[in-house]
Amino acid sequence: MKRMRVRSTGAYLPEKVLTNFDLEKMVDTSDEWIRTRTGIVERHIAADDEATSDLVVKAAREALERGNLTPEDIDAIIVATVTPDTAYPSTACWVQKGLNVKGNIAFDINAACSGFIYATAVAQGLIATGVAKTVLVAGAEIMSRFVNWEDRSTCVLFGDGAGVVIYEESDDDSGLIDIYLGADGTIGELLIQPAGGTRMPPSHETVEKKLHTVHMQGNEVFKHAVRMMQEASLKVLEHSGYTADDVDLFVPHQANIRIIEATIKRVGIPWEKTMVTIDKFANVPAATIPLTLHEAVITGKLKKGDLVLSSAFGGGFTWGAFLMRW
Ligand SMILES: CC(C)(COP(=O)(O)OP(=O)(O)OC[C@H]1O[C@@H](n2cnc3c(N)ncnc32)[C@H](O)[C@@H]1OP(=O)(O)O)[C@@H](O)C(=O)NCCC(=O)NCCS
Repeated sequence: MKRMRVRSTGAYLPEKVLTNFDLEKMVDTSDEWIRTRTGIVERHIAADDEATSDLVVKAAREALERGNLTPEDIDAIIVATVTPDTAYPSTACWVQKGLNVKGNIAFDINAACSGFIYATAVAQGLIATGVAKTVLVAGAEIMSRFVNWEDRSTCVLFGDGAGVVIYEESDDDSGLIDIYLGADGTIGELLIQPAGGTRMPPSHETVEKKLHTVHMQGNEVFKHAVRMMQEASLKVLEHSGYTADDVDLFVPHQANIRIIEATIKRVGIPWEKTMVTIDKFANVPAATIPLTLHEAVITGKLKKGDLVLSSAFGGGFTWGAFLMRW
């Protein structure tokens, strides 16, 4: 079986920045509450004429340039998202159009905030079996279109953006070491966008009742997130024969700074080895991990040879973790 390593990364964040102070003027909240309860200071918001694939195309162009590749070099495009451009075609097919390529593999994955980890596992499968040599994996979201801007318990939490990682066959000892995935659909209603699918098709009533937006029981989700991000992190370390001490950088999903603090305490990773972007980007579901990996690369916190642990938890519920030699 062939191994897979990272060739390059890229990111795109929409120009508009919405601060906690801006939100104070929109709902009954305060900068102090958001900052202390979540760690978020500001988030990026897509322009009205931007769709999710537009963000991916910009992030992909950066990753292609940094990897010295052209769009024609990519054998497969996988987009992890819960906010696709359209129900179909997939966002990945819109990305093909944006990059002006055709003929390669293109499809989306929905595993909410764990989507990038799930997509990485699929990329590994394509590369290991020789179906593809170079795979572009994106995590991308425009959450601002699907939050209820009158619900202070959810609208302050999310942001928009896209992150891209290009994977390729590895011919040295760098690359993906191990990956662990899980899901529990029996309690999925705790975090749900109820309308817009076959169970509750769009109607005037669903729009009036704002059922096309995020509905979440925050404190229940919080408890599960801490437990599963810890479990996934420990499982992937244990299975691959490494310990928390071996990890050079931990790149967790960024849903709440208190979830990150509780996870690193339980896994045994020091704060200095933990990458945090929630203050600037908020929670950008499937995009968070590739955005945070890219931020670690461009700020010099992630270097060749480093051992990177990443873990996520999200709607579904879904969770996962991977260990990678950068
Ligand atoms: C959503 C979340 C930040 C709420 O924090 P919390 O400490 O659990 O707060 P609670 O929901 O218990 O609410 C506490 C109080 O703050 C209030 N509150 C909620 N949002 C608020 C806001 N934006 N501003 C001010 N007050 C707010 C609540 O109304 C409640 O008031 P009450 O005590 O008078 O009823 C937190 O639960 C969380 O991060 N959950 C996980 C989210 C997540 O991971 N989602 C995506 C999955 S990856």
